[in-house]
Amino acid sequence: MSDVQRMRHGSSIGLPVTRRDGHDKVTGQARFAADNHPTGMLYAVLATSRIARGRVAFLDVAAARAHVGVVEVMVPGNRPALAIHPDDKSVPFSFKMDLLQDDRVRYAGQSIAVVIAETLEAATEGAALLAPRYAAEAVEVTLDAPGAFVPETVGVGAPAEQRHGDVEAGLDHAAHRIETTYETPLQFHNAMEPHGIVAAWDGDALSIDMPTQGLALTQMRIAAFFGIRMEDIHIRSPFIGGGFGSKLLAGPQVLGILAAKLVGRPVKLVLTRAQMYGPVTHRSATRQSLRLGAAADGQLTAIDHHVRTATSRHDDFLEPSGGISHSLYASPAIATTADAVRLDTGTPGFMRGPGEASGSIALESAMDEMAAACGIDPLEFRLRNYAEVEPITGKPFSSKALRDCYAQGATTFGWAGRPLAPRQMRDADGLLVGWGLGTAIFPAMMFQAEARAVLRRDGTGLVEAGIHDMGQGAWTAFAQIAADSLGLDIDQVEFRGGRSDLPNAGIAGGSGHTATAGGAIHAAGGQAIARLTELAVADPRSPLFGAGNVGVVARDGRLVRWDDESRGETYGDILARAGLDMVEGQGSAAADQATAEQYSLHAHGAVFAEVKVDPELGQVRVTRLVGAFAAGRIINPRMVRSQYYGGMIWGLSFALHEHAAMDVRTGRVMNADLAEYRVPVNADVPSVEAILVEEEDPHVNALGIKGVGEIGITGTAGAIANAVWHATGVRVRKFPIALEAFS
Ligand code: MOS
Repeated sequence: MSDVQRMRHGSSIGLPVTRRDGHDKVTGQARFAADNHPTGMLYAVLATSRIARGRVAFLDVAAARAHVGVVEVMVPGNRPALAIHPDDKSVPFSFKMDLLQDDRVRYAGQSIAVVIAETLEAATEGAALLAPRYAAEAVEVTLDAPGAFVPETVGVGAPAEQRHGDVEAGLDHAAHRIETTYETPLQFHNAMEPHGIVAAWDGDALSIDMPTQGLALTQMRIAAFFGIRMEDIHIRSPFIGGGFGSKLLAGPQVLGILAAKLVGRPVKLVLTRAQMYGPVTHRSATRQSLRLGAAADGQLTAIDHHVRTATSRHDDFLEPSGGISHSLYASPAIATTADAVRLDTGTPGFMRGPGEASGSIALESAMDEMAAACGIDPLEFRLRNYAEVEPITGKPFSSKALRDCYAQGATTFGWAGRPLAPRQMRDADGLLVGWGLGTAIFPAMMFQAEARAVLRRDGTGLVEAGIHDMGQGAWTAFAQIAADSLGLDIDQVEFRGGRSDLPNAGIAGGSGHTATAGGAIHAAGGQAIARLTELAVADPRSPLFGAGNVGVVARDGRLVRWDDESRGETYGDILARAGLDMVEGQGSAAADQATAEQYSLHAHGAVFAEVKVDPELGQVRVTRLVGAFAAGRIINPRMVRSQYYGGMIWGLSFALHEHAAMDVRTGRVMNADLAEYRVPVNADVPSVEAILVEEEDPHVNALGIKGVGEIGITGTAGAIANAVWHATGVRVRKFPIALEAFS
């Protein structure tokens, strides 16, 4: 095969291209799942449990069924059979589900019936008429529940306990020692688009419109539930109104598929906002105890990070908050441990930065407390404990431009001259001003993806991969990668994604979608170009005849000689002479075991926050956020900046706003709506700046991409809490930071 080389200039990679789907979205042309209305479609509405534990003793199905427009009421007694039990977890990455298998209630908001009607109004009214009666049992919904246990694994299989060096000795010999506990709240998913589905059966074939971050994973689980073939399930997910981990796996939408089966007509099921606080997973609360030791010069001697978290009574997902302490700061001794309680809630799950987001708050707060104890500037303190290699494994980092992040962030923010002591700065209105810092880190993960690329005789390209755009700009970034791989202008490339009948592009999760699916796309395009090159260099009529040894460059729809760019020809000419309409390439990408064994793979960043606090009222306002992030190759700086903004704003939310308040007597979320579950609005969001720090990574993957979806939420909340201390002298260890903290 010829040596195909591509020139960097002329490539669409790295350009701030605007969203390819932006026009469709702002003009209302983009069709989201719930915008579909197949002929004969009915509306399904969930009835959900008001108790958190017990049994459904009675449902007035007759009253609901008698309501005008109601077609059917699905309850455990008439729910169509499934090929596997909803608790069956044999499909990878699955969790136990509640699909009307019996009368048990495992958490508040669990589905207990589905009402199917000619109109949404009739279905909603029918659901209200069910007037359930329950046999309720006592609930446990707080981290103080009895029966704490030590899990073997956390997250998706990481060892819960990891030890490196002798932590107790490190603490014993420390000149400075801190021991603190931080609490982070229960958070629920509130993507703009709630979970929904339009499902239509045609015999054993199933046609589905639903938002998903994992087309193939979802297809696989649904195939298992209904005992049908994956290829008989067609899922369309062209646009997604946010996912953040909640749409990775088949969710309560499976009830919509069951409803369609029951009535033999297409069915639409969309969760209400309040129903988002039931069956779609959440981020568990955590209580994290940190013990740090440091020598007189500020060198850490020990990090001990213990996490108490919660899972459901019936299944396991344990927020892996301690993991962040393995990779961030150099210390001769590091230990992370965990325990957990089982609660009468739904099973927690993936939520943007699962583990790192909550863990970072505790570690960055503790680092700030230790810097203060040592009397060292927080930035200087972090530099003194900079990890040159990954502390717990000793592996080198594939790349790490964190020093540049600190430096560029500090300069832009104006960190120099920050007084060491708290309560030293006031603004013109007398508000207390404080500055804080948090380090950001997130692993660079790869999954598995495939793609297909075609070069056509008319000089255009087609690239296909079942990619997912949750709103992060995936359509655009992947089209840029596709165009680069084919040596074409982005407007010459047709890009297809968001459907399950395309090559399996893996998942949009773990911040690994661009690296993984992008790697597959780039490989597919590269193979199409290589095939074209083979045709040209072997053809005596081509100006590239015999150029195989010097190499050929694909650019602007032409192949040209590496050593003499004036000698070449268009793709169309090569295909025409060969009598072909097109050449095709296939590509795949996956995590490389050898790379992961040799290197620690992480993106890094530094977030600087300014807060102003009213000295009388304790009201906290974030007035400035500056984040500097290094995440390898940047495909589209406009999209990436907006990922960082989103992450930092969620970090702000973590610090000051978001909190699901649980009624400990009933196990119900008391603020299950966007009026009282506070998320930041424009007025809460200050000036936010994201700096893209240059970083070249020759090891992490073929394209040098580390991923940017989740790192922005790490670092930020800690930076804000640290700024609050700097403004007020009050160390708040319970999140979100509330007025009571200052009373
Ligand atoms: Mo992410 S929590 O893997 O969408």
